[in-house]
Amino acid sequence: VRYFALIPAAGVGARMEAGSPKQYLPIAGKPMLRHALDAFLASPLIAHTYVVVSADDGVIDTVVPEQGVTVLRCGGATRMESILNGLHAMHGSIAAHDQVLVHDAARPGLTPALIEKLITEVGEHAAGGLLALPVVDTVKRAGQGALSAQTVPRDGLWLAQTPQMFSYGLLHKALSEAPDPQAITDDASAVEALGLAPRLVEGHPRNLKVTLPRDIHTAELYLAHP
Ligand code: CTP
Ligand code: MG
Repeated sequence: VRYFALIPAAGVGARMEAGSPKQYLPIAGKPMLRHALDAFLASPLIAHTYVVVSADDGVIDTVVPEQGVTVLRCGGATRMESILNGLHAMHGSIAAHDQVLVHDAARPGLTPALIEKLITEVGEHAAGGLLALPVVDTVKRAGQGALSAQTVPRDGLWLAQTPQMFSYGLLHKALSEAPDPQAITDDASAVEALGLAPRLVEGHPRNLKVTLPRDIHTAELYLAHP
């Protein structure tokens, strides 16, 4: 079995309000996407890395290294569509039982050690698995407006990260058959909809998703301390 990385990088970064796609914003000295690419390139476990960008992307060629990465210009309207288009483009280069690690371009704190931990701990689990963090805060559910109506027991609650790893065959089936594509915000949820339970592997806070302007600073603090 081989392990492939697939990085969706076709978003517009609306919540970042930077006026340009966030995956190319400079962060700790290089474009955000390059951090994730470098983590996969540095991992001896990864056979090849694919990145999905939009068809009119004019920046990607200045960001990918000369070797080891294939650019797929087939981004879709949603993250799920971008990944599904990427999987179709990989067809022919990958077998159904090969494993795909899907990772957000917007998570620059990934390390080869986290990649290895995910692959090792998911092992042969047929439903695949994902990095995630156990919830440590007290969780509130709001009723009307911002009024705390209820405290949700945090026991058993996790925050999903990426990479999320599944066999090519399973991931393709899960995303193609997703009952409610609007509700799919990660790959594991599509696999869960098939009645399968992906393994949760404890990730690290440094692997945060850069979503809002304030996240850039936090990510840079982690990147300064490998
Ligand atoms: N993504 C993608 N194709 C889309 C939408 C998102 O490949 N149509 C990618 C993003 O580039 C990002 C990852 O999916 O690497 C996670 O999505 P998110 O953090 O939501 O990024 P954006 O969609 O770009 O940001 P926003 O939702 O704020 O617009
Ligand atoms: Mg988005």
